[in-house]
Amino acid sequence: MTSDDKKKMAAYAALDYVEKGSIIGVGTGSTVNHFIDAIAEKMKGAIDAAVSSSEASSERMKKHGIRVIDLNSAGELSIYVDGADESNRHLQLIKGGGGALTREKIVAAASKTFVCIADDTKLVPFLGKFPLPVEVIPMARSLVARELVKLGGKPVWREHFITDNGNQILDVHNLEIMEPMKMETFINQIAGVVTVGLFAHRPADVLLLGSEKGVQVIKP
Ligand code: 5RP
Repeated sequence: MTSDDKKKMAAYAALDYVEKGSIIGVGTGSTVNHFIDAIAEKMKGAIDAAVSSSEASSERMKKHGIRVIDLNSAGELSIYVDGADESNRHLQLIKGGGGALTREKIVAAASKTFVCIADDTKLVPFLGKFPLPVEVIPMARSLVARELVKLGGKPVWREHFITDNGNQILDVHNLEIMEPMKMETFINQIAGVVTVGLFAHRPADVLLLGSEKGVQVIKP
């Protein structure tokens, strides 16, 4: 079984959390692409609309004929479905491998339940092996990078990549994230940081992990 098979399995399992007639939040990435396809295949007429966390997901949903609306006209969302780059047992996450972290954090914050879907390699004892993405205002990139070095990290500019918000990304290597909430708060207050890809203050509520044994359901 490939990791993509496991992602697909987790994505289809997330359909059980989708309420008929609801407006759902939809994340970004290869796992979410399976979820979008699953909605189109099994529940297209059953949901009212979707709020998207990226231009890429919006485009995919529109191609399927799924109605995509702005968060400002949606109110609170019943669920948000998104992938992750890493999750610990508390369902605190590293996200932003695809660069959509800011909108992902906004849509997650607007949702009652955050359903995270992933293959089983994403569950780790401690966060930080995956380089932590930080979205920055372009003029502040070097300033923020120097502050991240003081934290013990090695920031690497994700060159030739611009976020949907017109900003840049630093991927921070070599961080040992023992206290995710503290680190999220600390990095967020550096001048020039738009969003850090740590989802610790707003972790997932349930993690659906595709594995050889089927879908594991993990709650904090
Ligand atoms: C995008 C993300 C994705 O959820 C994360 O990168 C996981 O991606 P994939 O589902 O392709 O493994 O945070 O910004």
